[in-house]
Amino acid sequence: MPRYADSDKEKVREAVDLLDLVSKRTELRRASPGDYKGLCPFHDERTPSFHVTPDKGMYYCFGCGAGGDAFKFVQETEGLDFVGSLESLAQRYGIELTVEDEDPAAAERRKARERLMELLERAAGFYERYLWESAEAEPARAYLRDRGFTDETLRAFRVGYAPSAWDKLMMAGRQGGYGNKEIFDAGLAVRAKGEGRIYDRFRRRIMFPLCDPRGRVLGFGARALGADQQPKYLNSPDGDIFHKGEMVYGAHLARSAAARAEEVVATEGYMDVLALHQAGMANVVCIMGTSMTDKQVGELAKLGKTVLLALDADSAGQEAMLKAAKVAAKSKLALRVVPLPKGLDPADVVQQQGAEAAKALVSTSVPFVRFQIERELERADLTQAEGKDAAIAALRPIFATLPPSALREELLAHVADAVDLAPSLVSSWLPMAGERPAAAPARPSGGGWSPGGSRGGRGGGGGGWGGASSGWDEPARPAAGAAGPLARAEGDFLAQCLATPDAAAEILATLDDAAFSGDAMRRVVAHVRAHLHAPQEGLPEDDKMLAGAVAKLVTKAADLAPSRAALQGQLANIELLRLRREIDAAVSSGTGGVAALRRRRDQLEERRDTLIQQAMEETAPSA
Ligand code: GTP
Ligand code: MN
Repeated sequence: MPRYADSDKEKVREAVDLLDLVSKRTELRRASPGDYKGLCPFHDERTPSFHVTPDKGMYYCFGCGAGGDAFKFVQETEGLDFVGSLESLAQRYGIELTVEDEDPAAAERRKARERLMELLERAAGFYERYLWESAEAEPARAYLRDRGFTDETLRAFRVGYAPSAWDKLMMAGRQGGYGNKEIFDAGLAVRAKGEGRIYDRFRRRIMFPLCDPRGRVLGFGARALGADQQPKYLNSPDGDIFHKGEMVYGAHLARSAAARAEEVVATEGYMDVLALHQAGMANVVCIMGTSMTDKQVGELAKLGKTVLLALDADSAGQEAMLKAAKVAAKSKLALRVVPLPKGLDPADVVQQQGAEAAKALVSTSVPFVRFQIERELERADLTQAEGKDAAIAALRPIFATLPPSALREELLAHVADAVDLAPSLVSSWLPMAGERPAAAPARPSGGGWSPGGSRGGRGGGGGGWGGASSGWDEPARPAAGAAGPLARAEGDFLAQCLATPDAAAEILATLDDAAFSGDAMRRVVAHVRAHLHAPQEGLPEDDKMLAGAVAKLVTKAADLAPSRAALQGQLANIELLRLRREIDAAVSSGTGGVAALRRRRDQLEERRDTLIQQAMEETAPSA
């Protein structure tokens, strides 16, 4: 953190026009000479009690007691620390700050960083212009329109488009006076293995600039446009400037609405943020997937006292919620859960049911513990005594976190009602906060999901590769039950086998057909293994399913570059999906060993990501 001269603070203070600064947040009227008033930006009110005295450079609210100078105002409204507010105001009012006692090396680093930030800002502008102005981006524009986004929303979030050529951004960067290394360091380019040639990291993707709380671009999240592109979302790599684990997306646009509402909605995806924002809820951010870090929880807490988790209730989403709960338990942060309809994310709700339905849904959020309890009750078979015991056993650790309170009583009554037993009895089985969870009905299997016990890991981003449109679908998709991400991943793998037959021969020789999902898929694997170089040959006439599936694979393979790393990456992805199933099964049957499985999953995920990266480098053009 640079240290600025004391005189700078006064210089900035003099340059700031407090009236202008505050007026960006609330409308002010002159109340008396030298005194202006308006609705308070820090709390909800109908009659103005917020005053600004420009001569003194101060503001004060008689309603909520908020008050201070310009620096304080910027800190409070933009979530910055003092230095941040100083920098931000200096930049806005054109004051050059002087850094005191900076050693030459530190000065060098700071300047280099400033250049990278400037480059990122320019790149965002470049991608934005490309989206709106280029003919190539028409499919991207159509896609975004199709998903219901207005130009206004897209512009507010500075959504852009990265062209498909390998070097468009590189060229623009160089023209702007940036060196290859800078473009690489900014996370905008990747280096081909070996020769050190570098090319654009983001190609043929919809670009979401990822900004800090001041709206400065730190990196990008990039969504694939084509079914042949993997992964579905590609982020900037972590580096000097971008740190994924610290980022909540959309904070700079959500801040003031979140401050006013005193709550912030946390979703999984970029699309959810845009959709809810457009639906009239501006206090929305996303955690960019399903992992949740302590730092992210901290960022959420800066935005609002209450965080509404609008995450998928699948096991990865649950893990994220538990992680948030664990961190929240140590702070004053209140957590609530927005119950999403099965299989829909908030963006889907907005698109399928409309803005009002989405708002109504968010307003049905329940306290986190209530959500936990609901889930346990749902998963138990409450028609049987064993099921009731299982539910009670699963609820014990949850109640052990609840101090005596009206909420506790309400939840107890709810549980007693659900298991249809006397409340006093149920109450005697459930421990109070601070109490040791002593013996109660024996813990049967089927209890499961205990809070606190799970390692907050890096959940996979929505099943990863390929996404819903990876080309492996009806009628080639094998029998019901096998469908879904795993079958799709297996299909992707087999297509890559056809594109890389020699390496595939080795790999397939080591695989057990029985591990593939479903009988149909096993027939496809057997055929591919036997006809790697000529898959259209040797098809039995009476197996239409097989012929159809193979035809699809051949078409798909035509778009793929041969790559051993891609093949291994695909295989790792399959293993990962199988492992996730295993984890889900272990969690819901309470068989234990979950921690070890999760550790393996995290390792596997890392391996897969490395392989993907390697594959991308290998398949770079040899121009
Ligand atoms: P749409 O499918 O376009 O609606 O996007 P989504 O946001 O609903 O995607 P999804 O639910 O699959 O994932 C939620 C979020 O996780 C995304 O917005 C990304 O931030 C992140 N994510 C998903 N897939 C990947 C991936 O393959 N790699 C990385 N790094 N992040 C991902
Ligand atoms: Mn979605």
